[in-house]
Amino acid sequence: MSESGKRVAVFGAGYVGLVTGACFAELGHRVVVRDVVPEKIETLRRGDVPIFEPGLDELLARNRERLGFTTDVNEAIDGAEFVYVAVGTPPTYSGDADLSAVWTVIDELPAVDRRIVVCMKSTVPVGTGEKVRHRLDARGLAHVGYVSNPEFTAEGTAVRDFMEPDRIVLGAFEEADGDAVAKLHEGIDAPVVRSDVASAEMIKLAANAALMARISFINEIANVCEATGADVVKVAEGIGWDRRIGKSFLQAGIGFGGSCFPKDSLALKQLAASSGYHFQVLNAVIEVNELQKRRVIGKLKHLLGSLRGKRIALLGLAFKPNTDDTRESPAFVLAGRLLAEGADVLAWDPVAHADGLHGVVQAETVEEALADADAAVLVTAWPELLDVDWASLAARMRSAVLVDGRNMLDPEAMRAAGFRYDAIGRAAT
Ligand code: UDX
Repeated sequence: MSESGKRVAVFGAGYVGLVTGACFAELGHRVVVRDVVPEKIETLRRGDVPIFEPGLDELLARNRERLGFTTDVNEAIDGAEFVYVAVGTPPTYSGDADLSAVWTVIDELPAVDRRIVVCMKSTVPVGTGEKVRHRLDARGLAHVGYVSNPEFTAEGTAVRDFMEPDRIVLGAFEEADGDAVAKLHEGIDAPVVRSDVASAEMIKLAANAALMARISFINEIANVCEATGADVVKVAEGIGWDRRIGKSFLQAGIGFGGSCFPKDSLALKQLAASSGYHFQVLNAVIEVNELQKRRVIGKLKHLLGSLRGKRIALLGLAFKPNTDDTRESPAFVLAGRLLAEGADVLAWDPVAHADGLHGVVQAETVEEALADADAAVLVTAWPELLDVDWASLAARMRSAVLVDGRNMLDPEAMRAAGFRYDAIGRAAT
């Protein structure tokens, strides 16, 4: 442990909590991760990692002596100077964020008599910090500090995103608490944005909304490209060079999914609506994304006619490559629509599973998925798909039709390999 090492308790051993805990241990702090699920804690104690996140297992292994795992609140809090809240905030039926796990952590905090700082990593509505502050004060814990320290980590690159972030955002009620949490991040070279708590909460929601807006924007440009004969890949390149626009998050495709974007867009929409504001751009972003997930069906019908009895292979189930996460994956919407059209659906993914997708047969290999298929849809841009022998696969299909939902493959090469190839926002076959 480095001399400046602090003691950090992390509540929630999900993907955000584990990455946060492992990275703070890497920075030299002593971390205890607490979760309510005993099996998860057992797994972690054995040295196994319950989620697939590149680099996380190495980080946990390397910092084993600085990391503890427990189900016991008191054990986690014992000696802790910082308490990170990294529990889930899933949507409720109304689309608002369900904060019950957050409140459980706050209410279970032992009545410590020393100063500790509660740091919010979970994505919460604006105003949550204020409510937590009141709740702590009401329990006589006015000496417990509070800082909103949102995460901007993407799955698959979470460790790098934490250790080399574009910025660190700290929203505090007391300046000294912000200073303390800034110091906790020592060793990370990044601008630190200090703000009030509400603004920090909004920064997280607004950052996600801006990224989603870019995706829905380029997807609509893609759809207009299709109608007018332009190529969205070239268009994105051409506008991306404009420094005011930038290149990232301009990949047209079959829509965004994942554990954050869909949930957070809904939460921000509800937050605005409940505050009396109709957030028109965000509503459009959400609707465009829903429609985008379904556009492939129209393309397949155009290429194959009726889909009844057709064998369709989905290449990829994860919502993006390098994760086994299928939450809100466009693959699931596509599978559901294809089954409703009467198609037989097979799916291949190198790590994700079709659990919960009733009626979908999981194939072990790309070859197995495509054998005798009437069409394939590239759903997730898994790098291994760049290395397959497409010409021999085309020969094994009943009809060599491929819809590239991520504009990953080279249209000319795919056509040369024998495919009737269509993509998103590019000149069709
Ligand atoms: C996102 C944010 O990037 C992260 O900052 C936040 O903390 C959590 O949400 P994540 O959900 O892991 O992270 O994935 P991300 O890489 O952002 O991709 C989200 C979705 O957008 C994926 O389905 C991806 O395929 C899609 N996407 C992304 C596009 O369709 N086009 C793009 O150009 C970029």
